Amino acid sequence: MNAAKDISVSRDAVADPEVRAANARADGLPPADPAEKTSLARLPAHARAAGRSTPHESARAQVAGAATYVDDIPEVRGTLHAAPILSTVAHGKLLGVDTAAALAMPGVRDVILARDIPGDPLLGNFSHDEPVFARETVQHIGQVIGVVLAGTVMQARRAARKVVCKIEPLPALLKVQDALKAESYVLPPVFVKRGDAAAALKKAAHTLHGTLEVGGQEHFYLEGQVAYVVPQEQQQWLVYSSTQHPGEIQHWVSHALGIANHAVRVECRRMGGGFGGKETQSGQMAVWAAIAAHKLHCPVKLRLDRDDDFLVTGKRHPFAYEYDVGFDATGRLTGLKLTMAVNCGFSADLSGPVADRAVFHADNAYFLEDVEIASYRCKTNTQSNTAFRGFGGPQGMIVIEAIMGDIARTLGLDALDVRKRNLYGIGERDTTHYQMKVEDNILEPLLAKLEQSSQYRQRRKTIAAWNKTSPVIQRGIAITPVKFGISFTATLFNQAGALVHVYTDGSVQVNHGGTEMGQGLNTKVAQIVADELGVPLAQVLATASDTSKIPNASATAASAGTDLNARAAQYAARNVRDNLAQFVAGLDRCGAGAVQFEGGEVITPAGARPFTEVVKLAYANRIQLWSDGFYRTPKIHYDKATLTGRPFYYFAYGAACTEVAIDTLTGESRVLKVDILHDVGTSINPAIDIGQIEGGFIQGMGWLTTEQLVWNDKGLLSTHAPSTYKIPATGDVPEHFKVDFWPEPNREDNVFGSKAVGEPPLMLAISVYEALRDAVAFARPGRAVVLEAPATPEHVLQSLSLSWRGLLAPSPSGRGNHAENDAGDSGFAPSPSGRRQG
Ligand code: MTE
Ligand code: HPA
Ligand code: MOS
Repeated sequence: MNAAKDISVSRDAVADPEVRAANARADGLPPADPAEKTSLARLPAHARAAGRSTPHESARAQVAGAATYVDDIPEVRGTLHAAPILSTVAHGKLLGVDTAAALAMPGVRDVILARDIPGDPLLGNFSHDEPVFARETVQHIGQVIGVVLAGTVMQARRAARKVVCKIEPLPALLKVQDALKAESYVLPPVFVKRGDAAAALKKAAHTLHGTLEVGGQEHFYLEGQVAYVVPQEQQQWLVYSSTQHPGEIQHWVSHALGIANHAVRVECRRMGGGFGGKETQSGQMAVWAAIAAHKLHCPVKLRLDRDDDFLVTGKRHPFAYEYDVGFDATGRLTGLKLTMAVNCGFSADLSGPVADRAVFHADNAYFLEDVEIASYRCKTNTQSNTAFRGFGGPQGMIVIEAIMGDIARTLGLDALDVRKRNLYGIGERDTTHYQMKVEDNILEPLLAKLEQSSQYRQRRKTIAAWNKTSPVIQRGIAITPVKFGISFTATLFNQAGALVHVYTDGSVQVNHGGTEMGQGLNTKVAQIVADELGVPLAQVLATASDTSKIPNASATAASAGTDLNARAAQYAARNVRDNLAQFVAGLDRCGAGAVQFEGGEVITPAGARPFTEVVKLAYANRIQLWSDGFYRTPKIHYDKATLTGRPFYYFAYGAACTEVAIDTLTGESRVLKVDILHDVGTSINPAIDIGQIEGGFIQGMGWLTTEQLVWNDKGLLSTHAPSTYKIPATGDVPEHFKVDFWPEPNREDNVFGSKAVGEPPLMLAISVYEALRDAVAFARPGRAVVLEAPATPEHVLQSLSLSWRGLLAPSPSGRGNHAENDAGDSGFAPSPSGRRQG
């Protein structure tokens, strides 16, 4: 990637002997240098693992094709393959299923339907509102009615298409606006309010009314959804699943089979990406395969084909918004009424917490004084939307950022100044609309630094001058901040467990409740454990997530994987270290507190011994060489009913400056330059964190530019393959792509002083959307800019022409451009308050 040349953190880690040894181990090859084979040998004391850019523990194995995914696990003899039977109707009565033709196909063994479920026909998830297999009704195109079992994957897939489902169509709700009108909800609406928004709007110097629509996003993990269920002796089950939440798979499978949790063991070595799409929705594969395995008494694998993955599984929630905002002449917001209509799809899944997080992030970085937010969790006849990197945060933030841009254009101010004007204060204006005090706010200095380093002011002037001379191409630039709350909003999930085993040769295994999806969790956990024991990183091996090792683990999600699991692992390692320290203190007649673990040695005032030697001695003296560790996040609490309290332990901050160009004839756009300043606290692994920031940003850019999901008027998702659904390619990475870290540790006590990094950078890409709107504004000056997200060429063209049409012929209602966008069919109840422009 040409982007790498601009990146400011060095990646020279492969020069480390211990890292090379780890690489060799991952390849399954002997280390190149025989001296490194004794990676347990003494290392210089400065060789600490955390804080260094050691490569991802699986990187070499992954590029060598030697890393194991579920579909790579050698199949047990007699394994059958399952393929899903999909509903072809968005909403209807399921009158019958004719399996005769499918059963006659080569290799087919059976067809599994709802009647074959031994336990509860509803999934064992929190909301308990989703059938395992569709029964009396079907609720979206792609809903799974059953699975066909055959000797090979292709035989199963071909036969699944031969199953004839008799469905009597019923009226379907496909658009979120229709669901809102029909009051069709998966969960009741939630209202959060502070002060008196209506009164504030009434007395505001300026008001704006607007609507906005933001599309969903397909996860497009490179490894699709897959599960492999292998029956064990005495009604016990082993499930290999590509999942962010092995514990939930365990619950769902035992629930569906009607057996106890202890009889189901779930293992996940790694995922080829999850991005939230495997937080819950990997469970269906496992349940379907388990029901089939239960009926046929044989191992069953279910790997969705990519098109089916698109049609079956949920996506990022599309949102529609309506807002009234009041502000003063300086651009400071004085009142806000915001309605969010959340398209949840046909069942609740994680929609409640996703919609909550959107409410929590509707402020992004800004103090909302008098505010009223309504959040409607709409039920439509589409896939059940689910977690996706940011988990509603992006959808909460984008609308307030759009409002900031609108205010700036209305007042003729620079959008950065409007954003700065509205930032949370220090010691004043610092309490969120959900009553949490923002104590760790660094955005003012962070934005100032980025403004300087990106030369924003100068560039915006240059761009404005350049645009004047450019007939077709127009550029735009924007800086947007991110303030993202870290912790699961469901407080109970903020706990984690780990096991650290030290073997008698001094090698260490760590296991924790988190899962590896590419984000580098195992690497960071191993780094922390290595330092706690003072051993080289190559001596520590992180092993597959396994419900029989760590029970009741939370999903690896909410970016909290390292915060939770690395701390739990650190505590586990500390217990072992304490055992060893006490033992060595006895030998050397010193206090246990005087014993140090460093550079592969155990050091007391009397002298140093190799860690390996201490371990052998300790074993011979019957000292426990392994331990568990448990961590729960302190300080957090909140009231689920009113959404008030302290849902987050701390905030992760960042900002991005993005420059774009649009072609005003075709609507095409490019992201030209990106400068990011992001807060990861003290980085445990700078290379991995930069990867997360780059990857998150590019994924967010895809969401807001090219990744468009199109359902046709029957409710079929017509963009169900990479031919029509466009994620960013390497060529879309901006040529100038610079990532810097904010140089300050986490102000809260978090592992190594680090901050969570998995999701926050995705929202830096809102700067792309705002830069595109800036470019449209340059092309069509003096008008409001309405740009539907994703900003595909069509939407950019539409935005140009909407603004253009507005200039020629103001809409008769006199409501201006924003109103024009929702004329007639916004689905929002018309607000009774009078609307004023500017
Ligand atoms: N990075 C990679 N490479 N692959 C992924 O699937 N998922 C993201 C983020 N980064 C993801 C990723 C999401 S949605 C989350 S919540 C976090 O990683 C989860 O991991 P963490 O909590 O360990 O950061
Ligand atoms: N993030 C991700 N997953 C979750 C959350 C959250 O805040 N709450 C419940 N599941
Ligand atoms: Mo991430 S959306 O919390 O899995």
